[in-house]
Amino acid sequence: MDIKKILSEQINIEGISQEEIYNLITGTANPSLGDFSLPCFRFAKALRKSPVQIANDLKDAFGGCPVVSDVQAVNGYLNFFVDNKVMSATVLDEARQDSFGKSDVGNGKTICIDYSSINIAKPFHIGHLGTTAIGGSLYKLYKNLGYNVIGINHLGDWGTQFGKLIVAYDLWGDKEKIEQGGVEALQEIYVKFHQEEVDHPELTEQARAWFAKIEQGDARALELFHWFKDITLKEVNKIYKRLNVTFDSYNGESFYNDKMQPVLDELESKGLVKLSDGAKIVDLEEFGMAPCLLVKADGATLYATRDLAAAFYRKNTYDFYKSLYVVAYQQNLHFKQFFKVLELMGHEWAKDCIHVAYGMVSLAEGSMSTRKGNVVWLSKVLDAAVEKAKSIIEEKNPDLADKDEVAEKIGVGAVMFSALQNGRIKDITFSLDKVLTFEGETCPYLQYTYARTNSVLIKAGNAINAKVAPDYASLDNAESKELIKLINRYPDIIVDAAEKYEPSILAKYLIDLAQAYNKFYFEHRILDEEVSRQLPRLYATDATNKIIKNGLSLLGIDVPAHM
Ligand code: ARG
Repeated sequence: MDIKKILSEQINIEGISQEEIYNLITGTANPSLGDFSLPCFRFAKALRKSPVQIANDLKDAFGGCPVVSDVQAVNGYLNFFVDNKVMSATVLDEARQDSFGKSDVGNGKTICIDYSSINIAKPFHIGHLGTTAIGGSLYKLYKNLGYNVIGINHLGDWGTQFGKLIVAYDLWGDKEKIEQGGVEALQEIYVKFHQEEVDHPELTEQARAWFAKIEQGDARALELFHWFKDITLKEVNKIYKRLNVTFDSYNGESFYNDKMQPVLDELESKGLVKLSDGAKIVDLEEFGMAPCLLVKADGATLYATRDLAAAFYRKNTYDFYKSLYVVAYQQNLHFKQFFKVLELMGHEWAKDCIHVAYGMVSLAEGSMSTRKGNVVWLSKVLDAAVEKAKSIIEEKNPDLADKDEVAEKIGVGAVMFSALQNGRIKDITFSLDKVLTFEGETCPYLQYTYARTNSVLIKAGNAINAKVAPDYASLDNAESKELIKLINRYPDIIVDAAEKYEPSILAKYLIDLAQAYNKFYFEHRILDEEVSRQLPRLYATDATNKIIKNGLSLLGIDVPAHM
């Protein structure tokens, strides 16, 4: 229920658009001044009247509508008092429908989201948590708004490291061991390669030769290359499943091997390519940036060349409305350069390519050991979180049924939420203890509140369907009003989070909602009330229940029914 819209539609000011009026109306902080307010200062010039006079005139002209119980003009402000009963009834009725928060604004538009984009045969480490969680959530938010969304895992599956891996495998690899050990086992021989390379420079040569064989399509080279890829994907897919993340395309860097030449030709024909020490570059000095490197002197293409080809491929294949890249801010320059090149090529859609940057995740001292160098494997963080969740359950609620399933939801949810609750650009320090507390701004707190609403609803049983006229006067108090106000904001929150590429807006909102519900829960009886007064409180509980569940699912997080 868009109250601002209802209010703005009641007001006519000559020469001022309905939209402008809508945008000027704000919620008030002081309830004695009403619930919403329209400042009239902006209209003074156009109407050649004082704001005080304008507010008075608008008050006199106000025709009245069911949601508004009173209108007052005070010092150039037009203040609206919303009828609490009408508001509560309408909001709760809307919020309890399955369609609440969904929209079709995106119908007919396609959004590409490049996210997670892990590297083959390299650890899926905690640094990839941000892109996976944020991208996964944007995917769900846009779908929820009716967009056609294409999730793309732009795999890092090209580069000389694959030549090194083959050499390392031939020297020290054991097929069975690697099949069992997965990426970690591949990592081990890769690290060994780098150590040995120092004293044996011929290894570097061999690696180069093997990489050339992959490029030329040598059967054995390709077989190993695909094997490394399969091992990695099998492993990451297990993680994606736990994180509720899905992709529509796994076209990674190697997919663009045969798609770069047309782009290079176009760049040449548009006079954008310069030679620099034998390398092909696009000079970006004029724009205060280092050049964009296209082809090295030895003929090798680069990350940027592949991204250029991928951008064309996505435009041609999906005809996107927007193409998002959820990638760490360390790559800011890369995206600026490559978007600039698209722009210089004269492609109007360059402006629709957006780098959705996010900050770094580091581990709080002592919260997890990082014995294997500096790599913190995401799967291990998840396991540790689940284990800790399990021990908390054992301590607090040892009789709980399906403990393992609940622990998985709490543990994984806590890790996901920690990557989503802060503004994207913020660097975060991850601590297991912090994300797994049940008090404060955490996922377990949300899940706990959800379980609380569930148990209220279960205890109420069929009472929520009582065929009795609800008495909304039972919501005439500060805690209920605050809760209703928040419930009412949910659809706008989803739009805002999607438009700003900020799932944190939704995450923060859910915390606010849970806090408001808990205040309401502690201050007001829900169950042992007279039926007509109990009903609105049950409706509010039901709406909160649905929003927390649905909102968390848009963040990729599951809720246990009880905990
Ligand atoms: N694989 C890269 C990395 O882990 C990220 C790729 C991001 N996507 C892209 N189209 N450049 O750093």
